Amino acid sequence: MPDKGVILHPVPSQLLILRPSPLLQWRLGALTALVFFLMLVVWSIDGCSIQTFVEPWRFNAYSVKISPSSSHSLRISPSPSPLTSPQPNLASEEPRGRHNLTMHTTKVVEPTLDPKKETNLTSNSTRVQFGWIAAASGKGFTANLMRSWLAPGGAPCREAKTVEISVSGVDGIDSLELTAGEIHEFRFQALDESGKHVCIGGDYFETDLSGESWKSRPPVKDFGNGTYSFSLQVHPEFAGDYNLTVILLFRHFQGLKFSTSRLGFDRKLRNVPLRFIKKPDVTLPELRSCKRSDFNRDAWSGRWTRLGKNDECQISNDGRYRCLAADFPCRKPWCDGAVGAIESNGWVYSTHCSFELFSGDKAWDCLKGKWIFFWGDSNHVDSIRNLLNFVLGHPEIPAVPRRFDLKFSNPKNSSETVRITSIFNGHWNETKNYQGLDSLQDSDFRELLKKYFTEDRVPDVMIVNSGLHDGIHWTSLRAFAKGAETAAAFWRGVFDKVKSRGLQPPEVIFRNTIATGGYARTLAFNPSKMEAFNGVFLEKMRDAGLVTSVVDNFDMTYPWHYDNRCNDGVHYGRAPAKLKWRDGEIGHQYFVDLMLVHVLLNALCVK
Ligand SMILES: *[C@@H]1O[C@H](CO)[C@@H](O)[C@H](O)[C@H]1NC(C)=O
Ligand SMILES: *[C@@H]1O[C@H](CO)[C@@H](O)[C@H](O)[C@H]1NC(C)=O
Ligand SMILES: *[C@@H]1O[C@H](CO)[C@@H](O)[C@H](O)[C@H]1NC(C)=O
Ligand SMILES: *[C@@H]1O[C@H](CO)[C@@H](O)[C@H](O)[C@H]1NC(C)=O
Ligand SMILES: *[C@@H]1O[C@H](CO)[C@@H](O)[C@H](O)[C@H]1NC(C)=O
Ligand SMILES: *[C@@H]1O[C@H](CO)[C@@H](O)[C@H](O)[C@H]1NC(C)=O
Ligand SMILES: *[C@@H]1O[C@H](CO)[C@@H](O)[C@H](O)[C@H]1NC(C)=O
Repeated sequence: MPDKGVILHPVPSQLLILRPSPLLQWRLGALTALVFFLMLVVWSIDGCSIQTFVEPWRFNAYSVKISPSSSHSLRISPSPSPLTSPQPNLASEEPRGRHNLTMHTTKVVEPTLDPKKETNLTSNSTRVQFGWIAAASGKGFTANLMRSWLAPGGAPCREAKTVEISVSGVDGIDSLELTAGEIHEFRFQALDESGKHVCIGGDYFETDLSGESWKSRPPVKDFGNGTYSFSLQVHPEFAGDYNLTVILLFRHFQGLKFSTSRLGFDRKLRNVPLRFIKKPDVTLPELRSCKRSDFNRDAWSGRWTRLGKNDECQISNDGRYRCLAADFPCRKPWCDGAVGAIESNGWVYSTHCSFELFSGDKAWDCLKGKWIFFWGDSNHVDSIRNLLNFVLGHPEIPAVPRRFDLKFSNPKNSSETVRITSIFNGHWNETKNYQGLDSLQDSDFRELLKKYFTEDRVPDVMIVNSGLHDGIHWTSLRAFAKGAETAAAFWRGVFDKVKSRGLQPPEVIFRNTIATGGYARTLAFNPSKMEAFNGVFLEKMRDAGLVTSVVDNFDMTYPWHYDNRCNDGVHYGRAPAKLKWRDGEIGHQYFVDLMLVHVLLNALCVK
């Protein structure tokens, strides 16, 4: 293990070499050597603080120890507490009593369905639409969520806890075949341990539809009465064999509680092989390249498609996955540009529209002269570094700190610069954690933020999220909703001041928070809570008239969140490194965030 760690070690010395060099291809406009020195200092602090970040002390959970001084290798210290020992086991056994449950429930669920019809799923016995699948995003997100959560119990079936489901149209069917292109909605019923219907909603199901070259999260609907549905769709181009997985992660809103690690249920209830059949008469509307107006949508329902593949691909000593040629082209309509550039071994994300993958020249063309302001959690730190390293031609920058304000110039043309300001919002003290939006309580922190909006010029764009720290900080959803409202009001005030000076306030890209991965799925910043918090904060920001564009990074990360192959639990964009990952294997740790970088560039640059 130490030998692997060596690879990363030169990081600080690179910084030291950079600092005095007059031959730098790039110019630091705003601040100079002192800032770099501070960057070095802060970076190492940041390195340490990762440890506290993944070690939510309140919950006595796992810890990942990263030692910034010696070897940079990850050491996993097993939890001293028995409550975290049930590792998310995604290759688990058959659901308990599935067949029996299935037998005595399918007839109850949809008594009108002729069982013979159920087996012919290529006919229209399931609901069929032609058009792209979309995630529901309702008005009154916060109010609806509160109302469902506070729905009274009373009757035994409203107090019952789900342990199983029955899925009509899926259970008891040997080989499930569905028409590619169509949307197939399947209803399912929550059941308690005696096989009886649960008649209240709020269970959090994780759903995954995966094939050789496709990964997506089938949207789940909660009817509030123990009945749910998921919807499946695969583009005809990707017809073939798939697995559908359904995991019950939390029962009845328990993921939204303050402390959740004891409450995670995390049981795989279905792992169903199925086949999508291509039919000549079924087509979908062509996916267009994303336009500006496409970023209006609050919640996305996209997919990762694989446009190329190198089975022999190995990680190189510098931690990179150069599996395909850097210029390996996208295939229309799934993306535009070179998919090789994101080093994903062929995977690319698209949603209700598809994205351009930017070359350095195109990115500089768009960004030159701009000022981008980031406010959010430590995932921004990774995204900015990935933007600089992989797109803007600055591979020599090993890290950016949690707080900085710098100009970077185009290595090909030093008269082109972009100013990037990033202020971490995990805590008002940049070395600390778990304060989230509540960091605005600190007046020095508020003044720091305001300062950037009082110059002759203000940022052109602000990229914002609430972040994982909020998941740990807030005692309740209601408290978070108030905090989100306060944060939105703060920014409204800042923007109004800008307007009153006759200037144009920045555009706001609401780039929501990741789905936490693997072991982190049951912690206080679990996906159930983060999805809710994303929705609440977005609503409050919209109510304050602050949102120009939405980038649904939650949906983007979701297909990769089941384990720690492409994330360390809380980050999808760590710097390339050939070292053992959270689960003891070498991971592929940066491409998901690199995709996000390109999606952000689309949001910034397309007309
Ligand atoms: C199904 O139920 C029957 C009795 O109703 C029982 O004998 C049998 O073992 C059960 N099978 C499974 C797989 O649980
Ligand atoms: C299933 O339905 C389709 C369309 O309605 C029909 O053409 C086909 O023959 C049916 N298959 C079976 C096995 O019933
Ligand atoms: C399929 O849909 C058509 C038109 O919507 C309808 O007329 C027909 O009865 C449906 N067939 C089945 C098997 O549900
Ligand atoms: C739950 O509500 C949905 C939508 O209102 C309805 O279609 C379904 O039949 C209900 N389920 C049960 C078990 O009552
Ligand atoms: C489905 O899952 C099984 C085992 O989990 C795996 O062997 C198989 O390759 C998967 N199929 C697809 C199409 O991904
Ligand atoms: C460098 O960038 C400036 C500003 O965009 C442009 O006017 C100039 O032509 C560029 N120079 C070269 C050599 O491309
Ligand atoms: C931030 O926290 C660190 C560590 O606890 C402390 O040393 C430092 O003084 C704090 N900074 C401010 C501005 O409070």
